[in-house]
Amino acid sequence: MNRRHLGGLVKAAALLPPEPAHTLTLKALDRLVRLGWHPPPPAVEQPCRLWGRMLPNGVGLAAGLDKNGDFIDALGALGFGFIEIGTVTPRPQPGNPPPRLFRLRRELALINRMGFNNRGVDHLLARLKNARWPGLIGVNIGKNRTTEASLAGADYLHCLRLLHAHAGYIAINLSSPNTPGLRGLQQPPVLAALLTQLAEERERLAARDGRRTPLAVKLSPDLDAAAIPAIAAVLLDHDIDGAIIANTTLARPGLEGSRHAAEPGGLSGAPLKPLADLCLERFRRVWPADRPLIASGGIMSGVDAADKLARGATAVQLYTGLIYRGPVLLDECAATLAATAR
Ligand code: FNR
Repeated sequence: MNRRHLGGLVKAAALLPPEPAHTLTLKALDRLVRLGWHPPPPAVEQPCRLWGRMLPNGVGLAAGLDKNGDFIDALGALGFGFIEIGTVTPRPQPGNPPPRLFRLRRELALINRMGFNNRGVDHLLARLKNARWPGLIGVNIGKNRTTEASLAGADYLHCLRLLHAHAGYIAINLSSPNTPGLRGLQQPPVLAALLTQLAEERERLAARDGRRTPLAVKLSPDLDAAAIPAIAAVLLDHDIDGAIIANTTLARPGLEGSRHAAEPGGLSGAPLKPLADLCLERFRRVWPADRPLIASGGIMSGVDAADKLARGATAVQLYTGLIYRGPVLLDECAATLAATAR
């Protein structure tokens, strides 16, 4: 069995409704890896430095595919340079009622309104502690749906305290469109108040744990041009170590008349790329060259990944591209980044 066979698994899964397809593919991969199957890593290595760590490549898995940290070793075996698990919230929650994930095949896109379905931070922490994969594992944290936006800080603080000693980095998710009020936390005065609490707590935890876990903020591609310099300034004031740009969009660019386009939720995949690119470029202009920017949004090929680096990204993350193309996309991105760097 090789990586091409895995592509066959992904194609077979595409015949199922999208949410069961994701779960079944992950479970099948997990079973194979537990049985001792290890795919050869991507043929080329293009090491990437992220927060002082050398990664075999700069191609990561974006948040949302492994919300609970249940599949870290299986996903790690595919050869990702880094993996982001979550979004996790303090308490378990079911998310929105299904159907909540839609394929727009022709457009190579997905619309999701999962709503942070997850088993809670205690479960994720146990899985993180048990994981054997030695690579960089980020944990993406959010707030419970029932927590009022004005009390969101307590949810993020709770997750930060539990995860600080164990995560490779922590991504503060302020940009999922499926939790009411979440994106409002990006407004500079609200953001400043939230990050003051988190930054202070991080300093205390760094002293406790003898290590300072990097904090990154994940932003929306729907921010307008004027908001970006103000947000970047707040992040820098609070010594945030990086930004992840971007999450899914509420816009429906070029999707007039497409099947499912009217479904509420966040759009990802090919149509998201121009919006996410613009946001990345705007952010890079006001962000110090030595602070990581992780690009997510519409990477469907190796060329797309190289394009994100050309626009100022330090590393990239994949999600929707993996659903349509399978793990061969990871190989292609790693190879193209290596060829471009030469
Ligand atoms: C996501 N994404 C996401 N992001 C996040 O920060 N927390 C999450 O829980 C999720 N959940 C999630 C579920 C599903 C089904 C999808 C398709 C996406 C967003 C994801 O991490 C990524 O930022 C976007 O999908 C854009 O990248 P792609 O998919 O265009 O490569």
